[in-house]
Amino acid sequence: MKIFVDTAQIEEIRKVKEWGILDGVTTNPTLLSKTGKPWKEAALEILKEIPDKPVSLEVIATDFEGMLKEARELAKMGDNVVIKIPFTNEGVKAVQALKAEGIKTNVTLVFSPLQALIAGKAGATYVSPFIGRVDDIAHGGIEVLEEIVQIYTIYDIETEIIAASIRHVDHVKQCALLGVDIATIPFKVIEQMFKHPLTDIGLKKFLEDAKKANITIL
Ligand code: E4P
Repeated sequence: MKIFVDTAQIEEIRKVKEWGILDGVTTNPTLLSKTGKPWKEAALEILKEIPDKPVSLEVIATDFEGMLKEARELAKMGDNVVIKIPFTNEGVKAVQALKAEGIKTNVTLVFSPLQALIAGKAGATYVSPFIGRVDDIAHGGIEVLEEIVQIYTIYDIETEIIAASIRHVDHVKQCALLGVDIATIPFKVIEQMFKHPLTDIGLKKFLEDAKKANITIL
């Protein structure tokens, strides 16, 4: 499973990159607004930090022509730009037009298997079902994801599934068990994925015993 970090904070992106587990970045207007920088400056910084990995940047326009114009501008910002397009009728049309121009897309705000099926049929590069937000309204986000994986497998749909709106480590585990292509994960949750109390306890004991036995390697 590829790991994307769901953030626009450059420090967080750099850390995950240093850990050697970063496969891409997803942003949205909310995440970009949290950087406190002008959006373009923040976006360019990210694109340059990981020039060989996909970075999703979202359009603001909601009409077909407007989305195309914005997507073309965003695509000029770097070879690694992926255009995030909201799942609407206009958005689905835009995905097809952008595909014809060789521009990669990530269909966002997907909450149902049927929306994901349409995004796949439209030829989106990626589709982003939002897990946490489905859980928030007392429906099963993981169940929705499971059905999407099933449909995509049955029809051999090439669009890559990005599990989005991930809230905790168990979401990540469920995504991995379902075999989703990618999980886009908030930085804090990636940090938590490293942690296990038994690792800390075990390491402490090994170090104490090394001291007792005068083990020095260098
Ligand atoms: C996906 O690409 C979105 O940026 C993100 O996962 C949304 O997550 P949220 O529901 O925590 O805002």
